[in-house]
Amino acid sequence: MKDLIQKLPKAELHLHIEGSLEPGLMFDLALKNSISIPYKSVEEVRNAYNFTSLQSFLDIYYAGANVLITESDFFDLTWAYLLTCKAQNVVHTEIFFDPQTHTNRGIAFKTVVEGITKALQKAEKELGISSFLIMCFLRHLSEAEAFETLKQSLPFKDKILGIGLDSSEVGHPPSQFERVFEEARKIGYKIVAHAGEEGDSSYIWEAINLLHVERIDHGIRCDEDEKLLDFIIKKQIPLTVCPLSNVKLRAVKSMDQHNILKLLHKGVLVTVNSDDPAYFGGYINENYEALEENLHVNKEELKTLAKNSFKASFLSEERKRHFIELIAQY
Ligand code: HPA
Ligand code: ZN
Repeated sequence: MKDLIQKLPKAELHLHIEGSLEPGLMFDLALKNSISIPYKSVEEVRNAYNFTSLQSFLDIYYAGANVLITESDFFDLTWAYLLTCKAQNVVHTEIFFDPQTHTNRGIAFKTVVEGITKALQKAEKELGISSFLIMCFLRHLSEAEAFETLKQSLPFKDKILGIGLDSSEVGHPPSQFERVFEEARKIGYKIVAHAGEEGDSSYIWEAINLLHVERIDHGIRCDEDEKLLDFIIKKQIPLTVCPLSNVKLRAVKSMDQHNILKLLHKGVLVTVNSDDPAYFGGYINENYEALEENLHVNKEELKTLAKNSFKASFLSEERKRHFIELIAQY
């Protein structure tokens, strides 16, 4: 099974590039940029990654991002992730970035986008990995700040495919951002949003009805509402599920209690993703392996999950079909 997980072509649809910052690179960049970080060693960093909730993670994740200063830092960060994609047979990736985490520290929007984009272009050419970029609004910040970020994105519209919504979920429902997402849709951006990670099913309803999302990020609490579950199945609204993340942040008690396969069997279009791999103990293959070890996912289920990753992507119908046919041959 490990062999099959490795070999299957896969798409990743829920990956925060800032969450792929490995402790080694964090140290290198801290030294280069003279940024102080509250750790003495890589081991000490790893020991600090003991989370009790989404917020306990976010505090450390935003602090880690402080070491990213120059365009080459964003390039190096993204390139390192793409090399792991190559090693794990991820052939297409749709990457989130959080512009406000950087612009609020005085880093130019352009620096962030150019650094990430140059690595994505190099990966397309040299590694054969295709990609899209999705920028997220931080939901703990205001609607006005989201509007300002949307405005800043306009000169780079050709490099950004869509808009998402992340950060602290509970207390910051999608309804607070209805108007800015309406504007984003008018501009032509694809829309996704984190919902139903820690927040209840009402957050998922709002993401669907008010933001008009094409995908839900996480969405694992959709099974608390029978009507919502039926709706998601009927409309085949994809969920980008992140198993290791959910257990690390205690959204789910333990991996053997994760509902991803239950949702799959009910007909939900679920996908497997790594979220913030440097912080949660694994990239995409480790997430699939966790399902094998704890939920005994079988070969056909694995293939369906890999096919779903392409079905749920923003690739053309032709590219989707290509990869789905490839997976069918395993
Ligand atoms: N949830 C919300 N915000 C985030 C996450 C997440 O899993 N990862 C990075 N920002
Ligand atoms: Zn996420």
